[in-house]
Amino acid sequence: MSKVSFFSGEAVPLEMHKVRIVQKLNLVPIDRRLAALNEAGNNTFLLKNCDIFLDMLTDSGVNAMSDRQLAAMMESDDSYAGSATFTKLENKISELFGKAYFLPVHQGRAAENIISKVFVKPGSIVPMNYHFTTTKAHIVLNGGSVEEIIIDEGLAVTSDCQFKGDMDTAKLEATIQRNGADKIAFVRIETGTNLIGGQPHSLDNLRQVRKLCDKYGLMLVFDASLLADNLHFIKTREAACKDMSIREITLQIAQQCDIIYFSARKLGCARGGGICTNSKETFLKMRELVTLYEGFLTYGGMSIREIEAITVGLEETMDEDMVSQGPQFIEYMVNELDRQGVPVITPAGGLGCHLDAMRFLPHVPQSQYPAGALASAVYLVSSVRGMERGSVSEQRDDNGNEVYSNMELLRMALPRRVFTLSQIKYAVDRIVWLYRNRDLVGGLRFVEEPKMLRFFFGKLATTSDWQSKLVARFKADLGSDL
Ligand SMILES: Cc1ncc(COP(=O)(O)O)c(C=O)c1O
Repeated sequence: MSKVSFFSGEAVPLEMHKVRIVQKLNLVPIDRRLAALNEAGNNTFLLKNCDIFLDMLTDSGVNAMSDRQLAAMMESDDSYAGSATFTKLENKISELFGKAYFLPVHQGRAAENIISKVFVKPGSIVPMNYHFTTTKAHIVLNGGSVEEIIIDEGLAVTSDCQFKGDMDTAKLEATIQRNGADKIAFVRIETGTNLIGGQPHSLDNLRQVRKLCDKYGLMLVFDASLLADNLHFIKTREAACKDMSIREITLQIAQQCDIIYFSARKLGCARGGGICTNSKETFLKMRELVTLYEGFLTYGGMSIREIEAITVGLEETMDEDMVSQGPQFIEYMVNELDRQGVPVITPAGGLGCHLDAMRFLPHVPQSQYPAGALASAVYLVSSVRGMERGSVSEQRDDNGNEVYSNMELLRMALPRRVFTLSQIKYAVDRIVWLYRNRDLVGGLRFVEEPKMLRFFFGKLATTSDWQSKLVARFKADLGSDL
């Protein structure tokens, strides 16, 4: 990582790349934003891009690509079967992860579908550090259940614990003993734990989990979608790894795992995904499903051009400058908000800056979806789109009861190498304004509620006319300013 200190002493993250292609953005007036929110049923997934200034919904498929990735896309070997482009990716996977067998899939959840279909049976349990929405949905769909075994500190919103994504190994062993190893489909570790604020796990913790898997004959499945950020944190926070290269850390991580899968919409800065393993038996079990659900084994539902881009993107992820950019920008945003009293998840993690809606809007009960309300309010006052990561992102239990999330977060994702520092400052400015006027923000209630993954398509209405009041206060303070 290029270490550049400012003479002024100010902590400023410095871009180690330059912008060569740009996209014009719109910043529409607040009245239009209010109308757009109504049309979208207060669900930021349903907003249209033309109404959005800074899109911090996700990093998925929207990281900036490099000149080398774009160049590689031009030389792709487009064919249904036997593409040389695919062989390049297969070789890169084997070089970086040390895995001999690779299956391509069109995105991360497609890998989850295949892994769950093959290994999860009715009654199976999948212990994991923390779930991701699509992961849990696939496991449940196949009759299994998820047990979250994150360390206690992982769910503390403010903390100075450096590896809040670690698994509690004592609890893991207790879970295995309580249920019997034969009930456990596999143990899953998610790197850069998405739903608890992009928090990393340590390499040491992964080794301990591996030991337990060996002791009980269990398979360790690793979701590497958010590996880039986690690599940065292992390198900078884990004393034993500070002299290791990113490549060495990657290999050491991979050596602990039986199956690695990833969303290349995140890891590799393109669009696609994959599953790799060293076990021929495991590979063969999953192979047929890839051809059934994804496509032939040399493209797996991905465009061949994207496969070229992934190969280059994975190689570029071995560069400390590349993996540190996201976390450093996120740290800047988190620290600025924290300094101004806005409740955020600390320490800063990867993926994005996470606002703690329970402390931001303590007057909005969980039954009125504080994180969803905060997502609406932030969009309204800034045209910046974030993603609800709280109870709206859960689904009801079999009896139709709400399952309240451990944390009510608004995730402001920072796709890698996309935003400039002044854009981050704008987002901080409007969030701080909102915090000062938080008493005006009210709750939400579902008016359309799909049974599964309701956060994608569900529509919500406000529980009062709080949005018009917020608009009036905004205009009083900022005039006709956007
Ligand atoms: C940790 C994790 N796993 C799996 C997925 C699913 O990947 P995809 O969106 O490519 O289906 C995501 C996507 O956000 C993720 O963050």
